Amino acid sequence: MLTTKPRGVNDILPDEVWKWHYVENYLRDLAGRFGFQELRIPIFEHTELFQRGIGDTSDVVEKEMYTFTDRGDRSLTLRPEGTAGVARSFVENKLYSGTLPGKYYYVGPMFRYDRPQAGRYRQFNQFGIETIGGHEPAIDSEAVAFAYEIFHGLGLENVLVHLNSVGCPVCRKAYRAALQDHLMPALHDLCETCQTRFDRNPMRILDCKSKHCHELVQGAPSINQYLCEDCQNHFDQVKKILEAMGIPYAVDQNLVRGLDYYTRTAFEITAGKEGAQSAICGGGRYDNLIEEIGGPALPGIGFALGMERLLLTLEQQGSQLQKPDFCDVFVAGLGGNAEILTSQLCHSLRLSGLRVQRDYQGKGLKAQMKAADRVAAKIVLIIGDDEIARQAVICRQMANGEQTTISVNDAVSYVQQKLSAIKVEGDIK
Ligand code: HAM
Repeated sequence: MLTTKPRGVNDILPDEVWKWHYVENYLRDLAGRFGFQELRIPIFEHTELFQRGIGDTSDVVEKEMYTFTDRGDRSLTLRPEGTAGVARSFVENKLYSGTLPGKYYYVGPMFRYDRPQAGRYRQFNQFGIETIGGHEPAIDSEAVAFAYEIFHGLGLENVLVHLNSVGCPVCRKAYRAALQDHLMPALHDLCETCQTRFDRNPMRILDCKSKHCHELVQGAPSINQYLCEDCQNHFDQVKKILEAMGIPYAVDQNLVRGLDYYTRTAFEITAGKEGAQSAICGGGRYDNLIEEIGGPALPGIGFALGMERLLLTLEQQGSQLQKPDFCDVFVAGLGGNAEILTSQLCHSLRLSGLRVQRDYQGKGLKAQMKAADRVAAKIVLIIGDDEIARQAVICRQMANGEQTTISVNDAVSYVQQKLSAIKVEGDIK
C-alpha cells in the first residue's frame, strides 16, 4: 500500500516529463498568439460551485466528484474541470469591470471518480481556455479555430472537429417535450440514473455512458430541428466564419456534451486512427453560467483538452517531439584528489549557464565516459592527478574524440566557445 499509488493516478517520470514541458510550452505560446492570459485557479472550491455551475444532473456532479468535509465542516470538492472555477474567479475578482471579453487559459490537474482505463484517469490534466463577456459568433469560431490549431499544429492526422448547437432555454423547451415523447415508451428500460433524468433533464439521457441507454436513444429527435431563430442564425454565422478561416468541421447532431452549462455552440475534437476514439478536447458556449453562480449576465465560451489524451495520441501517431539537450558538459574527476577541483569546476560551469553532470562515486575513467555518453554530453572535462599538478583539465569533444589540454582558469570560456562552435556546425548541417 505504502509504495502503490491509488487507482487512476499517474506518476510522470523524469524520462517522460520533457514531453509535458514541450507540449505545455507549445500551448502557452499558442495561447499568447490567440490573445489569452493565464489564470491560476485553486485545486479545490466550495462543492456548491460545481453543483450549481456544472449542474446536478451531469455525470460529473452525480457520480464523479471528490468531495470532502474539511476541519471547519465545509464541503469542498477537488476541481473536476476548470470552467466553473474560472467563472467564479471572474465574478469574485470583478474581472468584468476590465476590457471584455476577458480571455483566460489554465493548465493543471483535475479530479474525477471515473472508471480508469487508457486515456481515462481519476487525476488527469487539462489545458483549457475561457472567453467571457462576448456573445458574437466570431468568438465561437475563434475558440474552435484555436482548438483545431493545437492538434493541426502538432502535426496530428485525422483531426476532426464535431460541431453542434445545443440551443438555448427557449428552443430547449420545445425540444425537451419532443424528446420526452420519444423516450416515454422506453422509460422503464432506461438505466436508473436516466429514469431520474427523464423529468429533470432529458437531454442528459442522450449522453449516458450505458450501452443499453445509448441504443434506446437511437432515432431520438435532434435539437437541431428545434433551434429558435436567434440560435439558428448564430450557428450559421459560426459555420460561415469557420469556413472562411479554412477550419474543417462536421456537424454532429447527436453531440450534446456532458456538462449542463452549455448553450448554443458545442464541439469536440477527435484525432484517432479512424477518428472514432473518445474526444481529446471538448467545449462550447455557456451563456447563463456566470449569472447562474451569482455574477452579471455575461456569456462565455471555452474548451479544455486532456493532456494525457493528447500525449497518448501523439505517441499512437508516431509523432517525434524534439527532445531537449539534457547535458552540455560532463566533468570526470579521477581519484579522491580531484574531488575539490571537480566540485569547483562544475559550479563555475553551472553559474555560466551550462547544464553540467558529474559522477560522485569515484568511478574509473571508462565508467565515467559511459555515464557521459548516457546523458549525451557534448563535452567531457577530465581531471586526473597529472592535471591537478599542472592546474589543467583535458577537454574532450564527444562527437569527434578531439582532445585538448587547457588551463583550469580558461576552462569555462574554452568550453563555452567549443559549445558555440558545435551548435553552429549543427545548425549548418
Ligand atoms: P470535458 O469534455 O468534461 O469538458 O473534458 C475536456 C477534456 O478533458 C476531454 O475531452 C478529455 O480529453 C479530458 N478528460 C475528461 N475526463 C478525463 C479523464 N477522466 N481522464 C483523462 N482525461 C479526461 C470540460 O471539462 C469543460 N470544462 C470544457 C470547457 C471549457 N467547456 C467550456 N469551457
